[in-house]
Amino acid sequence: MAREKWASKLGFMLAAMGSAVGLGNIWRFSYVAGENGGGAFLILYLGFVFLIGIPVLLAEFSIGRQGQSDVVGSYKELAPNKPWYLAGFMGIASSFLILGFYSVVAGWSLYYFWNYINGSFWTIPDAGYGATFEGLISNTTTPLFWHGLFMVLTILVVLTGIKKGIEKASKVFMPTLAVLLVLLAIYSVTLEGAGEGLRFLFQPNWAKIDSGVILAALGQAFFSLSLGMGAMMTYGSYLPKSESLPSATVGIGIMDTVFAIVAGIVIFPAVYAFDISASSGPPLVFITLPGIFAQMPFGSIVGLLFFFLLSIAALSSAISILEVPVAYFMRRFKWSRRFSSIFIGVIMYFLGVVVSLGFGVWSGVTPIGDLGILDSMDYVASNILLPLGGLAIALFVGWQWSVKEALSASDMTNLGVRYVWLGIIKFLAPIFIVLIFLQSIGIIG
Ligand code: PHE
Repeated sequence: MAREKWASKLGFMLAAMGSAVGLGNIWRFSYVAGENGGGAFLILYLGFVFLIGIPVLLAEFSIGRQGQSDVVGSYKELAPNKPWYLAGFMGIASSFLILGFYSVVAGWSLYYFWNYINGSFWTIPDAGYGATFEGLISNTTTPLFWHGLFMVLTILVVLTGIKKGIEKASKVFMPTLAVLLVLLAIYSVTLEGAGEGLRFLFQPNWAKIDSGVILAALGQAFFSLSLGMGAMMTYGSYLPKSESLPSATVGIGIMDTVFAIVAGIVIFPAVYAFDISASSGPPLVFITLPGIFAQMPFGSIVGLLFFFLLSIAALSSAISILEVPVAYFMRRFKWSRRFSSIFIGVIMYFLGVVVSLGFGVWSGVTPIGDLGILDSMDYVASNILLPLGGLAIALFVGWQWSVKEALSASDMTNLGVRYVWLGIIKFLAPIFIVLIFLQSIGIIG
């Protein structure tokens, strides 16, 4: 069977951007920035995106396109009899951990969308949005329904195959979300108290930085760029060898980062205007945004549109996560795309059930330190497995490949910055990642 291919380079770009832009930019970015002190975190995050993230993203695309296979298969294809493919299995493990909680949060977003359709969120509920949200997520059954619906949608897109499903979905909605976010940002900065929110986001307070903040910023850079798991590798593998990678990579990286910053400009003024704690954790956007919508003109329509688009953005990311194990199991066990998507999707659904119950009946369960179930899975996947996956990618391209191979696989042969990139991949990125790990374990101060 011939390998599936993107219909066009634009299709690939949109799908990769669709993967990158999602809950990570809006939901995760704002609460992680909020928990880690704002401005100084933002600078670290930006530094990691440009210094490590974008160069490693190019390396990840290169491996996929050169290997023309899934995460495990691409490494095996390019370095038979070497243990690199183990990094591929790490990516598959991350995909289960991440989609396990991602689909739960996406389910919350779908449920909000529904509440804007039926009118219950048009005005502030008696208990306020905060308590209403807590009530929703601690409920045993309702979130499971919405999480299930989201998983069904994800499975449906993935089982229709690359071109038709994924490409089409990304084309229309991303630009719409971008426009809406910018309009919201403009509104948000006019809120009373907005200045304080902007200062929180943009004025670095260096005293806030410790090893936890550094690791969180690295994890956020990887999570937001869909990096280190093999999603981008798998997408790259559907790209014919004739397409040029570097410009696409930089475009995707910048887009993704701009989305996060604009989302921050929407959220943080509202955090201060409505007197919400910036370190509220995962509920943050679900409490602040409805507050903005409740007081702006046409807010109910804006809210409806926003949660629709957020759910679509989550969907275009979720499909890239599910695609990682689906592509592997299809090749390895000769499963059909249909069977593979449904089987793996259902397993992930049940993982999500555990995550969802972690906000209700199992809220006392804290697998790591004082982190609940969602936070624990997120911590292991985003702060540990993704950077380790990125480390493997950088080392593979930097050391397993010859300079010539690396430059030609990435289309960097003729670009002036080719040795800068290579230097980052060979030395800077691996050293940084290792140092950050050592520091967060407490081995170095
Ligand atoms: N980057 C996606 C987001 O920001 C999430 C994601 C993580 C997708 C890892 C693929 C791999 O929402």
